[in-house]
Amino acid sequence: MSVLAISDQVFEVGASHPERKLFDCLMPTPHGTTYNSYLIFGKEKTALIDAVDPEKTQVLLNNLEEAGVTRLDYLINLHTEQDHAGSAEAVRQKYPEVEFITNAKVKELMHTHLHIPEDSMTVVTENDTIDLGGKTLGFIMIPFAHWPDNYMVHLKEDNILFSSDLFGSHYATSKAFSTSSAEQRLAAKNYFAEIMLPYRAHVAKHVKRVRELAPRMIAPSHGPVWYDPDIILRRYERWTSDAVKNLVAIPYVSMHDSTKLMVERLTIKLSEYGLSVVCRNLGAEPDSLSLETGHFITDLVDAAAVVMATPTVIGGPHPNIAYAAVVANAMRPKTKFYGLIGSYGWGTRVADTLDALTSNIKAERLDPVLVKGLPRDEDFARIDEFAKNLAEKIKAIPDLVKP
Ligand code: FEO
Repeated sequence: MSVLAISDQVFEVGASHPERKLFDCLMPTPHGTTYNSYLIFGKEKTALIDAVDPEKTQVLLNNLEEAGVTRLDYLINLHTEQDHAGSAEAVRQKYPEVEFITNAKVKELMHTHLHIPEDSMTVVTENDTIDLGGKTLGFIMIPFAHWPDNYMVHLKEDNILFSSDLFGSHYATSKAFSTSSAEQRLAAKNYFAEIMLPYRAHVAKHVKRVRELAPRMIAPSHGPVWYDPDIILRRYERWTSDAVKNLVAIPYVSMHDSTKLMVERLTIKLSEYGLSVVCRNLGAEPDSLSLETGHFITDLVDAAAVVMATPTVIGGPHPNIAYAAVVANAMRPKTKFYGLIGSYGWGTRVADTLDALTSNIKAERLDPVLVKGLPRDEDFARIDEFAKNLAEKIKAIPDLVKP
């Protein structure tokens, strides 16, 4: 991505990274990502919002040259993580006159993580403004979206909100304004699941403030600019609410098909009751663990129920299911019901182990269905009863949302 005009004297000058397929050694990013940097020319001064990931420093510096920047007055660092602040020092080397702007937490964390001298940063707080000459920047704090340090910039004259990680998506595209495709909206949901879900209550408050601010455009630090902010605001309002969908998420692993047969039976029965079911096989391929766990985490944004399905391995859950449980637990999902089905050879402690791993999932816990060996008719009858019980509970949820 080179220099893209997004408004009068406002440009996106960051870097695209379409080949990045995993973020934080954790999140699958099938569409890559972008590290957005925004350049604002006032009549007297010039500001840059965020520097890019260190892997793309040269792209940013080239873009600043291409945009005609000969003097840079401010680098506004909205968030400490390296994908946004990792090139800050390189920007200062090229433009030694630049003044680093931070909030108090960014200042502390940039000193900690990037060894930026504390006395080289100027701190702004809520409602402070910087006048570039006909372009006024206001600052809005959004702690825990998703670090304690995030804040936003509101460019008042243009009514553009630079929202840091909030409203971002890992989606590399040259169509910076094309946010209308289902694929891009799904990328935004994946991003919300992996980044914002654990801080849902904080994020809900920030979304309310943004709604009241009514920006003309939202420019996040990853992915496309939201030309029509209502598209993403409506979704964030739904994702941060307590409402759940008529959806059951089933992450599963099966080594010798016993658990798979149980999953299939449960899926058929739940479907017969009119529920939507998404099964994620975490063990099908070498990449399944990261890819399917990523999809499962997105399911957690609004699934009414989660049913973990696992064989017993050395007394406990299959390690892939344990991994998914740990990640799901960290996300603190709003799912209303939690269940467990699975098989074992001669003995099992999977229920206790998974209960311990998922203690942050504050859902009603159903009695597990664990079967010794290959399931028989009486075992399938237990699955049928489990499905009936779960379906009745989900259908009784007030204001259930249809998928
Ligand atoms: Fe995109 Fe929290 O860094």
